[in-house]
Amino acid sequence: MTDAPAVRVLGVAGSLRKASLNRALLRAAIELAPPGMTLTAFDLAEVPLYNGDVEQGGDPSGVAAFKQAIGEADAVLFVTPEYNHGVPGVMKNALDWASRPPRAAPLGGKPVGIIGASPSATGSARGQSQLRQAFEFTNSYCMPQPEILVFRAHEKFDEAGRLTDETTGKYLRAYLEALAAWALRFRGG
Ligand SMILES: Cc1cc2nc3c(=O)[nH]c(=O)nc-3n(C[C@H](O)[C@H](O)[C@H](O)COP(=O)(O)O)c2cc1C
Repeated sequence: MTDAPAVRVLGVAGSLRKASLNRALLRAAIELAPPGMTLTAFDLAEVPLYNGDVEQGGDPSGVAAFKQAIGEADAVLFVTPEYNHGVPGVMKNALDWASRPPRAAPLGGKPVGIIGASPSATGSARGQSQLRQAFEFTNSYCMPQPEILVFRAHEKFDEAGRLTDETTGKYLRAYLEALAAWALRFRGG
């Protein structure tokens, strides 16, 4: 039993590959979710490339499911890799769909968090910064602090993709507690 208020968080990893470090980081977050928080993953594999012509005929089923899941969540946790110093297309494309239609988009007024992992020393920092910038236009409430940049991430998960680094786990737990509090600030507001 817990007195913590229920908070529904949707987790989205911006990589499609099975052995993705960012999908592994999202799985770790799901395991470490604090009392009261339900964190569920949405797989972006079924979200096609954005096409305004297709959109005019109605959202494809994968997009509709994604937008509905965002709408039902109190907050969305974006777990982003970094590609060529930016947000990978898989992640940006999903965000572009979810930013539509303007003024009635599921991302509008939605509390969001960003974390990410990379084998490099910078731990997805530049990808995260770009994503944060996009949330200005979608009018999403992006949690400013804390931040999680999992650097040298390939050393922090075992072969099965389980988080083995205790320090990362400790920061991840604290991050999720902060995200729960952040989401509650906006609920019903
Ligand atoms: C096209 C491409 C570009 C990349 N560019 C960067 C980069 O700019 N910075 C970085 O830290 N890692 C970069 N990487 C390495 C990725 O961080 C690494 O492949 C990571 O494991 C991808 O995330 P994932 O494991 O969740 O799939 C790049 C990888 C690819 C495939």
